[in-house]
Formats: sequence, structure tokens, C-alpha cells
Amino acid sequence: MARLNSNYFKLKAGYLFPEIGRRVKAFTDANPADAARMIRCGIGDVTEPLPAAVRAAMHAAVDEMGARESFRGYGPEQGYEFLRRAIAENDYRARGIEVADDEIFVSDGSKCDCGNILDIFGHDNRIAVMDPVYPVYVDTNVMAGHTGAGDEAGLYDGLVYLPCTAENGFVATVPHERADIIYLCYPNNPTGATATRAQLAAWVDYALANDAVILFDAAYEAYIGDPEIPHSIYEIPGARKCAVEFRSFSKNGGFTGVRCAFTVVPKDLVCADASGEYRPLHPLWNRRFSTKFNGVGYVTQRAAEALYSPGGKSEVAALIGHYMGNAAILLEAVRACGLAVYGGTNAPYIWVRGPQGLTSWEIFDKVLTGANVVVTPGSGFGPAGEGYFRISSFNTRENALEVSARLRALAW
Ligand code: MLT
Repeated sequence: MARLNSNYFKLKAGYLFPEIGRRVKAFTDANPADAARMIRCGIGDVTEPLPAAVRAAMHAAVDEMGARESFRGYGPEQGYEFLRRAIAENDYRARGIEVADDEIFVSDGSKCDCGNILDIFGHDNRIAVMDPVYPVYVDTNVMAGHTGAGDEAGLYDGLVYLPCTAENGFVATVPHERADIIYLCYPNNPTGATATRAQLAAWVDYALANDAVILFDAAYEAYIGDPEIPHSIYEIPGARKCAVEFRSFSKNGGFTGVRCAFTVVPKDLVCADASGEYRPLHPLWNRRFSTKFNGVGYVTQRAAEALYSPGGKSEVAALIGHYMGNAAILLEAVRACGLAVYGGTNAPYIWVRGPQGLTSWEIFDKVLTGANVVVTPGSGFGPAGEGYFRISSFNTRENALEVSARLRALAW
């Protein structure tokens, strides 16, 4: 008899964003007049067109694919040399960080990488996640059978939760208990918090002392404006021995619909196998890639490479400036409503403490029905998010200004 993976039945009803979509659809079906004015500040999906440098590179790559002498079939699973070199050179070596070209693995998205990385770890690790947390880290561990059952609030047995609260500036502090694999995300989704060098150094020290691995999600590093805030975990001495880093072109180059990201797996990073012998992760991730993946399309990789051209860099800077301009407008609006607000200065997400006494989903409904604006309920990211909501700055300027006006007009 064929059996299902019963771990899936431990998952909460739906992935957060489809669940929001379902609720918005139910509301707009019942209130068609409101549907046309609905503005979505829920999922962090980019709105601005692809940079001209990217489009030109894609057109040229399509033409190459259309000529027999330059046509390409299967590429290297790990990514073409030209892109791996551009990434390692621009994102790391130009900033004084040691990363070799072949430590870069090009993929179709950080969400996929964060889930897929579990393939190369054992099943008996203690997994630590922040709370609130990007739901993918938790759900992929539930699917892999690394947890017990979840409770009503969404906490799963077997996971180590690292509460991120206003008191600790939404930066997770090292636990007193053992954790073998630790997910950190800075700039943070959903709170928009950033971690200082000293805070990340405490995590690297913890990981080195406990033979733990940090899975560092830096998908939003391009939004850091403050020169004191690290962009990469590898800015911290020792991190090459204990951390994997995930990066994405989704939010800097506007690639949410193009799909391209990468993972850095340093060759000095080792983990114990079942017999206790230390072995490097790099060959395992390489093996996984070449067995389960055929690489990102050539046209897409040329598009990503173009983000590192001088023109591409200035267009990325303009995109970041645009979204951070929205963030400033939205931050100001929320402050004017008298609500406590966090994030939104070195990150595209604004994390808002809702009015006392309302749950996150009640606030979601209030903003949906009262302002026809979609936000993300904080509790969807974990129990410590209860009472909060997240506003995404990924929008047109016109919409950001309109959302600002509507939030100010709402009776809080
Ligand atoms: C979010 O809104 O949290 C992100 O867009 C989700 C993602 O990047 O997968």
C-alpha cells in the first residue's frame, strides 16, 4: 500500500499567503464595490518593471539560444561560471569577504533553497527558529518530520523557538539549550529588524562552540543603508566554518517572477556524520544539486549577471530607493496613527503593533474592510507575532501614498 507523508497533516491549514488570498477573495466576492480599490501590501512581491540592463541581457541571451552556433542545452547544475564569478566577486570579494566562485550555487529561489537544504542534514538535529518567523523554515521542517505536533498557537513540539520581541529589538539571542541548526534572517522578514555585528558574532560563537550550523537568510541585504550593519554572515570571523548563506535576486533585481537566487556553502564548513566523523557540507550540497536539479535557465542567469553591470547596479539602487521611499511614507503614516512601529529603515517590511485587545487577524479584517488594504497578520509568522501586522513596501508610489492616506483615515 502506498503511504503518504503524514507529516503534512501536522501543518497548519494553509501556507500563510494563499490563506490571505483566500480571505481577500471571500471579501471581494461578497463586496464587489471594494474589489476595485483593494491595495495589496501583504506578500512582499515587487511591482516595478525589470531593469533595462536585465531586459537587454535577456533579449541578447534569447537571440543566442536562437542561433545554432550559440545555442545551449543543459548547463552546469550549480550555475554558469560567469554568474558564479559575478556573484562571488561583487557581493563578497569586493567587500573583502572570502568566497570562492565554486562556493556559490545558483538556484531558482531562496524559498526553495531554505527548504531543500534539509536534504543534506540528518533527521535528529535540534532546529531553532525565530518567532515570528518566515513560515517556510518551520513548514519545511514539519514536512521533513523534524517536529512533533503543532499546538493551537502554531508552536511545534521539538523546535527551539527564539522569541523576537520589542524588548530584544526583534533580534534573537542565543538559547541556553542546545540547537544544532539555527535559522537566522537579517534584515528580518517579517519584523524588518537588522542585527548588529556584535549580535551576529554572538551567534557565530555559539555555533562554533556547539558544532551548530547557522542557515543565514540574507534575501533583503540590499535594503541595508546603514554602513555599520553587516550584509553577510561571512563578515563575522569564523562564519565560514559554521554558516550557509541564502541570497536572492527577487527583491533587489525585481526577480520574483523571473526566479533566480543562490546559496553560499563554504568549503570549510563541516558537520558530523552518523559515526561522528566531521565531513564537509559542500560536496553533499553539490551532489544534491546535480542529482535533483538541472540548473537555472541560461537566459535567466544572463539576466542575473546583468544586475552586476554598472548600469544594472545603478538600476538596482534606484529600485531599492523606490521601495525604501515607500517605506518612509508608510512608516510616517503608521506613526501618525499613534501605533508603535518597527523596521522599514534598513528593510522593506514595516512591523506594526496593533491596537491593544485586537488579534492580528482582527486587525487584518479591520484594515481589509475599513481601508481596502491587505496587510499580513503578525500571528501568521508565529505566536510572538500576535497583535502585530506587517506592511510590505513593495508597491507603486501611487499605491503607497494612497495606503498612507487610508491608514491615516481609519478609526484606530
Ligand atoms: C513575504 O512576503 O514574506 C515574501 O515575499 C515571501 C517570499 O519571499 O517567499
